[in-house]
Amino acid sequence: MNLHGTAQIGQNHHLWIGGTDTVELAKKYGTPLYLYDVALIKNRARGFKKAFEEKGVGYQVAYASKAFSSIAIFQLIEQEGLSLDVVSGGELFTALQAEFPAERIHFHGNNKSPEELEFALSAGVGCIVVDNFFEISLLKTLSSKLNKKVNILIRLTPGIEAHTHDYIITGQEDSKFGFDLSNGQADKALKEVLDFEHFHVLGVHCHIGSQIFETEGFTLAIEKLFGHFKKWEENYNYFPNVVNLGGGFGIQYTSEDTPLAPEQYVTAMIEEVSRQMHRFEGKELPELWIEPGRSLVGDAGTTIYSIGSQKEIEGVRHYVSVDGGMTDNIRPALYQAKYEAYVANKMNEKPCQTVSIAGKCCESGDMLIWDIELPKLTDNDYLAVSCTGAYGYSMASNYNRIQRPAVVFVENGEEQLVVKRETYEDLIKNDLPLKSNVFV
Ligand SMILES: Cc1ncc(COP(=O)(O)O)c(C=O)c1O
Repeated sequence: MNLHGTAQIGQNHHLWIGGTDTVELAKKYGTPLYLYDVALIKNRARGFKKAFEEKGVGYQVAYASKAFSSIAIFQLIEQEGLSLDVVSGGELFTALQAEFPAERIHFHGNNKSPEELEFALSAGVGCIVVDNFFEISLLKTLSSKLNKKVNILIRLTPGIEAHTHDYIITGQEDSKFGFDLSNGQADKALKEVLDFEHFHVLGVHCHIGSQIFETEGFTLAIEKLFGHFKKWEENYNYFPNVVNLGGGFGIQYTSEDTPLAPEQYVTAMIEEVSRQMHRFEGKELPELWIEPGRSLVGDAGTTIYSIGSQKEIEGVRHYVSVDGGMTDNIRPALYQAKYEAYVANKMNEKPCQTVSIAGKCCESGDMLIWDIELPKLTDNDYLAVSCTGAYGYSMASNYNRIQRPAVVFVENGEEQLVVKRETYEDLIKNDLPLKSNVFV
């Protein structure tokens, strides 16, 4: 059993997180219920910051809000002094509603609409991460129209794709994001933005993948980027003030996963950038920015479900159904993602059977966990699935008209409801009935 953050087994044999009894919370707020361990989020945020501060390197740690966005998480991230990466008008709107300082918001995305860009410029976001030539031209028009100076980062694809333990070096990246370093796109983009009067080209951005357990992918990307900066220095007399190396730091969903501590990724990045700087005489180390999502909120989240029906097919499989599924956690269906789970009210009981945890959606692919060892289960039990804090709630849907669950933050024995459970009325609030005399 791999308990995360402040999770522990209470004297009543229940799972406790943040000094609160998860079973009591499930009874109070209903299930499924997302719980977030606030202390773990703070701890990770501080770990990333400390790693930069100890080395005296200028930095920004921007929370990749796609992992989980809500007003409360944005307030917490702001309290911790982090920046914020948003990728849509909706995420930006939520951040502004949370009174997140606009100048610490970075706006990403491969297809920002003119309305979204205008919204971002009017709000005064800290920078726009420019992704493609269409966006450059939109941004030129809008910044001129609004007479605004815009800080930009150029998103580059360095031809390194990292995933877990593997990384692939490609001559040319097949990605919908960013400007390719190797085929001249990146140089063309730099030329297009450098001398435009409303642009201030802060630097570059690259994101090489997700759930990464090694530092090599990052160091290879840095090597490639800085090799290219040499050409930029020679050809355009340009050297970036900011290098944003994206997110992708792994977490331990199951015992098969072996992530590094936040500071190990950051230290490796700083060391490689410092090594590369010998090529640039008289230049200062650029500011290093990162964008962790999953590693800030992933293992801080636990979903509590109520156990419902069970179906045993002799010699084949024992299905145990819960009252949620792909509507609150699409990752197993989408990516064959693996999770661990405990029986929150029977933490002292030994596993005695192999079961598979099924969601309640009308999809045979709606399975949360295949073949997990658990104690005997009844419909009075609560299943806690750990590490559901990233890309769970933010990817949740109303498939089968199932309401999205509530979200509760816990820390030091305190609990707070931060997102209400949807009601049936919420499900139909945008529906309009047919007019009486049409489509008859
Ligand atoms: C540009 C960018 N930055 C940061 C992230 C966050 O990644 P992770 O949650 O794996 O840290 C992503 C994830 O897709 C991304 O696309």
